[in-house]
Amino acid sequence: MNEFTRDVLPTHKAPPGGQLSGAMLADLDAAGVLILTGFYTRERCDALRARALELVEAFDPDSVRSEFSTTRQTQLNDNYFIESGDKIRFFFEADAFDADGTLRQPKADSLNKMGHAMHDLDPVFDRFSRGPELQEIGRRLGYERPGIIQSMYIFKPPRIGGEVVCHQDSTYIYTEPESCHGFWFALDDATLENGCMQFIPGAHKGPLKARNYRRDDGTLVTETLDDSRWPEERCLPAEAPAGTLVVFNGRTPHLSGANRSDGSRHAYTLHVIDQAAHYPAINWLQRSPALPLRGFERG
Ligand code: FE2
Repeated sequence: MNEFTRDVLPTHKAPPGGQLSGAMLADLDAAGVLILTGFYTRERCDALRARALELVEAFDPDSVRSEFSTTRQTQLNDNYFIESGDKIRFFFEADAFDADGTLRQPKADSLNKMGHAMHDLDPVFDRFSRGPELQEIGRRLGYERPGIIQSMYIFKPPRIGGEVVCHQDSTYIYTEPESCHGFWFALDDATLENGCMQFIPGAHKGPLKARNYRRDDGTLVTETLDDSRWPEERCLPAEAPAGTLVVFNGRTPHLSGANRSDGSRHAYTLHVIDQAAHYPAINWLQRSPALPLRGFERG
């Protein structure tokens, strides 16, 4: 199943205008992941970070204590999480609070992520998430009508940034036929030390191993479709300087380690589906008809 035999993930300088070359598309097909350095300038990344921190500043942590953890899975019956598909909401790290319920670190260094519709609700995020370069990449990936179904701002804060266990994004963002790609932007330099993304190249040619969906009672469940183990020993790191865009197939298994370093590892992700595909009503991520799905074109 694995035709990818190199020992580093395919990495290219971001092409002008998002015009992915045949070689880049061949790399993405073989590895399931493509690293494009210098897609955005550090200044643009810093501007997005500044806006994210403004939104965090306006968020009252006493109003909600919702955690996101791929190891503890507390979000599966948490309405604040389940209803966040068309909102801007904040999720804490599992280790953010001490035994007395007090934050151990400043608010911005306690959050796991913010999601899931900044790209549609906030003008600064909208601008970062759309434009002719991204539109061109969408076209070259073969999208008929791309739709940005979610955005996430990942904080991976110093010392308590949690690990993300190995998974495929199509487990959570499932369409028929499958059409999900992840667009991951490094806002800080991502390294193995601060918990960069890691991918199992070529493993996207294997099956989808799980599917997450809503039960009738509204809670979420993840059903195993294939219980073979991930060949995690084949993981390769996607170390990425700020401004890098990592594009990956919704089937490509990936993970990231904990951040025990003294610096943050902020990143921003978009997930894109084809609006020509069927989007099941039992998918966890749903949005109000008042917020229709849009692609990469600027409004
Ligand atoms: Fe993921």
